[in-house]
Amino acid sequence: MKRNWSPDSWRNKVASQVPDYPDAAALARVEAELRRYPPLVFAGEARKLKARLANVAEGKAFLLQGGDCAESFAEFTADNIRDTFRVILQMAVVLTFGAAMPVVKVGRLAGQFAKPRTQPMERRGDVELPAYRGDIVNGIEFTPESRIPDPQRQVRAYSQSAATLNLLRAFATGGYADLHRVHRWTLGFVDSSPVAAKFRDLADRTTEALAFMEACGIDSTNYAGLRETEFYTSHEALLLGYEEALTRVDSTSGDWYDTSAHMLWVGDRTRDLDGSHIEFLRGIANPVACKVGPSTKAENLVRLTEILNPRNEAGRLTLITRFGHGKVMDNLPNLVRAIEREGRKVAWVCDPMHGNTQVSDNGYKTRVFDRILSEVRDFFTVHRAEGTYPGGVHFELTGQDVTECLGGAQAITESSLSDRYHTHCDPRLNASQSLELAFLVAEMLKAQRAAQPAKVAEAS
Ligand code: PEP
Ligand code: CO
Repeated sequence: MKRNWSPDSWRNKVASQVPDYPDAAALARVEAELRRYPPLVFAGEARKLKARLANVAEGKAFLLQGGDCAESFAEFTADNIRDTFRVILQMAVVLTFGAAMPVVKVGRLAGQFAKPRTQPMERRGDVELPAYRGDIVNGIEFTPESRIPDPQRQVRAYSQSAATLNLLRAFATGGYADLHRVHRWTLGFVDSSPVAAKFRDLADRTTEALAFMEACGIDSTNYAGLRETEFYTSHEALLLGYEEALTRVDSTSGDWYDTSAHMLWVGDRTRDLDGSHIEFLRGIANPVACKVGPSTKAENLVRLTEILNPRNEAGRLTLITRFGHGKVMDNLPNLVRAIEREGRKVAWVCDPMHGNTQVSDNGYKTRVFDRILSEVRDFFTVHRAEGTYPGGVHFELTGQDVTECLGGAQAITESSLSDRYHTHCDPRLNASQSLELAFLVAEMLKAQRAAQPAKVAEAS
């Protein structure tokens, strides 16, 4: 048990990004209701993910974390969940080939609702209204009523998370994720995209490898890893009242777990060492992560690892770097060196999305595929130079055929952004762009393997 910590000790700290709920009593009633609801995930699952992430920190596994920037009530359909799950599975197969190591799959799913905002107000013309903070807080419509924070939304977000998780569990263990079905995952619009042929070729190779293994006596009936997959959930622990309500003592270990997701992270705007979000995260026993942006000072990052991971356990803390293209070389080496010098155990993961958001000439928030790729490349380059592990990637993506990010082999242009621009917050890679990026990252992983044969041999 952590010293001087309780699920509500964050309330004594300075809280940022707090929605302005007009009715405190109504909010308290909803939080009390949520406290009675069943947990969404189990402590044992979170511990298992922590063990997987320890492998990531030690260069024996690679993390693929991805999903919506913001889940929404409007886009909540079985097809959307399936398509996101499917593209993550496809990417994982591609990355597994590149890395020749297990790929840990973690969705930004089943709870990724609350959004931090740089500006508390949004102005359109002469009208100024409170910013949209995600469907768990208020509505995206630009009307005064919709922008009022409504606590009942937390109950709906909980229900949607439960239903999403239920479907994900069914997909992961009910046959859909059986590697023998790898060819069938290609169904959908990706069939006609430029990366489809590449994926079909890889699926052929997978099928061949499975036939070989079967001939050796390893098949889905005697090895569960072929017929099902492990899939974990994560989101930003931003709306702390909601997270507190779902934080429970695990009867096995006596530790507190936030049962809203397996892994929780704190964002770049809320990682203040003395702030409420770090206070909350330090006491839960889940694996946790922190976004690391260009304003991060090395000494603060070291201090953060001491606060969030006092026992210096591998797998407990993941650092998700997000500097922006062209800024990795200036920022990352210094931070990596400080962490190495102090012997802090962390998994390094690259989020090439959040430092690369821009507004197109025709007014869309977008990201350029080549800049995303360039940030991942520089991330790999730095870790190779420093002798540390590029542990994974963190993407905002969807399995849908949206037009939100520019470029890629599909060559989405500014004029086509309006065709299918559906995001509730930041622009996401579509299925084709996601898969294309997975192939490019797989090449980096392959090169990394070739450059560090001794380390790979040690790990296996
Ligand atoms: C996010 O992951 O959606 C996000 C807001 O990221 P960051 O905190 O890195 O800006
Ligand atoms: Co985002």
